[in-house]
Amino acid sequence: MSTHPRCDHTAAWAALAGHFEAHGRDFDLREAFARDPGRFDALSLQAPEVFADLSKNLVDAATLRFLLDLSRECGLEARRDALLAGDLVNTTEGRAVLHTALRAPRGAPAPTPQVNAEVHAVLDAMLDHAETVRDTARSGITDVVNIGIGGSDLGPRMAVLALDAFVQPGLRLHFVSNVDGHDLARVLRGLDARRTLFIIASKTFTTQETMANAHAARAWFDAAGGTDRAAHFVGVTTNLEAAAAFGITRTFGFWDWVGGRYSMWSAIGLPIAIAIGAANFRALLDGAHAMDRHFATAPLERNLPVLLGLLDVWYRNFHRCASRSVAPYHQGLERLPAYLQQLEMESNGKGVDLAGEALPYGTSPVVWGEPGTNGQHAYFQMLHQGTDVIPVEFIAVKHPTHPYADLHTKALANCLAQSQALMLGKTTEAALGERAPTASASLGALTLARHRSFPGNRPSTTLLLDRLTPRALGALIALYEHRVFTSGAVWGINPFDQWGVELGKALAGDLLPRLTAATVDSTGLDGSTAGLLARLKA
Ligand code: F6P
Repeated sequence: MSTHPRCDHTAAWAALAGHFEAHGRDFDLREAFARDPGRFDALSLQAPEVFADLSKNLVDAATLRFLLDLSRECGLEARRDALLAGDLVNTTEGRAVLHTALRAPRGAPAPTPQVNAEVHAVLDAMLDHAETVRDTARSGITDVVNIGIGGSDLGPRMAVLALDAFVQPGLRLHFVSNVDGHDLARVLRGLDARRTLFIIASKTFTTQETMANAHAARAWFDAAGGTDRAAHFVGVTTNLEAAAAFGITRTFGFWDWVGGRYSMWSAIGLPIAIAIGAANFRALLDGAHAMDRHFATAPLERNLPVLLGLLDVWYRNFHRCASRSVAPYHQGLERLPAYLQQLEMESNGKGVDLAGEALPYGTSPVVWGEPGTNGQHAYFQMLHQGTDVIPVEFIAVKHPTHPYADLHTKALANCLAQSQALMLGKTTEAALGERAPTASASLGALTLARHRSFPGNRPSTTLLLDRLTPRALGALIALYEHRVFTSGAVWGINPFDQWGVELGKALAGDLLPRLTAATVDSTGLDGSTAGLLARLKA
């Protein structure tokens, strides 16, 4: 149990509250830049593979000082060291949390030589198999279908899209997660069983959606003329017995100390490895490891995940921002927001502290977003002129992996312009001086100018990658992992369990037989559920 005070009982929290009232609430970014020509340099930093511009955030040096004090009072460094050392930091499940060990180089002594040896033995075997499969001429495999959900789907799905430029030509990767059969049906349509490999990915090998899809896929394989199931079904799980009982003979294991949402670095990454190859998968791990070292060793003042996590606390608990938007200006990062939703909201969406006491302050924000520039033509209106302030995180990539230089420059211009527009805004006076071609001629000039003005002063962070390589993606994802850990540590919660998903699963188990029964049985059901059940069965 933590010996550190709860964050809202610390001196730094009180100082931050005072600072917010005196300087934070009315902090003006435009004035801050006008006052301090060195603001960009002071508030930007280079971490492994990721450059971050934090200068468009609603902070000054004093804010950061108080936030860093808060992290120290809440024992962030001790908590981080306990995490990296393999202590049982997932207290409600009595488990260590060692995704960082999955990307530690061969021979690394920490957390133990035994963990390192086991990790590398599975990694070597998994990468060997990936290389065999991706040699399509020899393996005969052209389509790989990953069946998994949550952490057994989101990471591989996100990474395969992000690293599209590195994917073996002639190889198609498909992902099925939803128990809604439309998902499986869409993927199976047009596949040739003899050229398809199914990966059944499930930490527990008991998840309803994955097991249902795996059984349906196996039946399809048999019906579609597939032979040699052993060669066409691979398992990735910690539950080797259950995989064997399903009839899978080739299984790559991992360990209970790998959380589902932190598992893309383990054998769960098999679809990534098949897609991009062993060397690129190792580069992904290297990038993540470089960020791990940065998190472990950089002083807190220059530690990017720490600073981002503390900004999250600042916005959530002092500015009372309930959400954060992520806008990657790279189509390959299309699934990053969905990936981050699980990483952040399943980790930090908690209402009690480590001691089980209800928390009086907000924890995980809602994380959402779409790639730019698509989002600009959808919800950016609300970001610019809506009544809520929503911090935005822009992700830009300097060099594209496509040949269309003009398109890339336009994407970059839009990315810079959006963060600029959010910050600068437009006064009513400025709007009064403009003539908008599509504006109504019958509306008063002042009324129109009010509709066309922007409050500005809306905060954003820009993360800049040189190229979206496997190594850069690894570093970026590890950055997010440690940032989520940082805010969770300040909030004093357990970011590594997910009890909140259990109730719905249990209730679905109760409802399933009622849906298949010959007669309607609504015994014990609430009125709404009983009514819906009756309609479905009518
Ligand atoms: O939704 C809850 C959850 O346990 C996630 O944390 C996990 O990533 C997902 O289900 C899938 O679990 P499994 O890999 O055991 O099938």
